[in-house]
Amino acid sequence: MALHGDAMNLNVAVVIASTREGRMGEKVGRWVHAQASQRAGWTVELVDLLAWPLPNYAQPLPTKMAEKSYTDVRLKAWAELVAKFDAFLIVTPEYNHGYPAALKNALDHAYAGWNRKPVGFVSYGGTSGGVRAVEQLRQVAVELQLAPVRDEVNIPLIGKALDEAGAPREEFHGKRLAALVGELDWWGTTLKAGRERS
Ligand SMILES: Cc1cc2nc3c(=O)[nH]c(=O)nc-3n(C[C@H](O)[C@H](O)[C@H](O)COP(=O)(O)O)c2cc1C
Repeated sequence: MALHGDAMNLNVAVVIASTREGRMGEKVGRWVHAQASQRAGWTVELVDLLAWPLPNYAQPLPTKMAEKSYTDVRLKAWAELVAKFDAFLIVTPEYNHGYPAALKNALDHAYAGWNRKPVGFVSYGGTSGGVRAVEQLRQVAVELQLAPVRDEVNIPLIGKALDEAGAPREEFHGKRLAALVGELDWWGTTLKAGRERS
């Protein structure tokens, strides 16, 4: 078992939560993916919910029990995908002071794969930059036994915030993302060691 401080590799998912036509989420997600991929020891994968059109939750049991015997190949593949990651960066817009329904549905369709792993949030939206969506997500994350890290990125006025390459014009957001990546690495490494011990 690698000890904390050793070069421990982490598999990190950057989840794009918006699935609507004309979404800004893909640009933000790609920016986050590019930045996070520079972190030593990280293997970062884009998980675009547009490519994961899961049915609305219709299982007779809560996920903790239901996922053990999924017969729908899409659900089985989703739970397996989530399970392979050590940490998550969720990129979410704010919809009516909450987060997209597709994201909640995707969160609800796995359980064990989320447990005892850190999650960080990158949000965007209007004047609030999506902070209300993130506050709600923090509550949901805890119930899934995800560990939400304190640092976050919130990009306001998203329609004007990105440059031609899809990166935020404001340098501040890049700095906040670097801080978030650093925290996620600490928690990811620490919790991975803990999971391997138990
Ligand atoms: C259904 C809907 C509801 C929205 N509600 C909010 C909101 O409550 N607060 C906010 O700041 N922006 C809101 N917006 C603006 C979005 O944050 C903005 O359109 C953003 O680009 C949406 O992300 P997306 O393009 O990746 O889907 C809303 C947009 C949509 C489509």
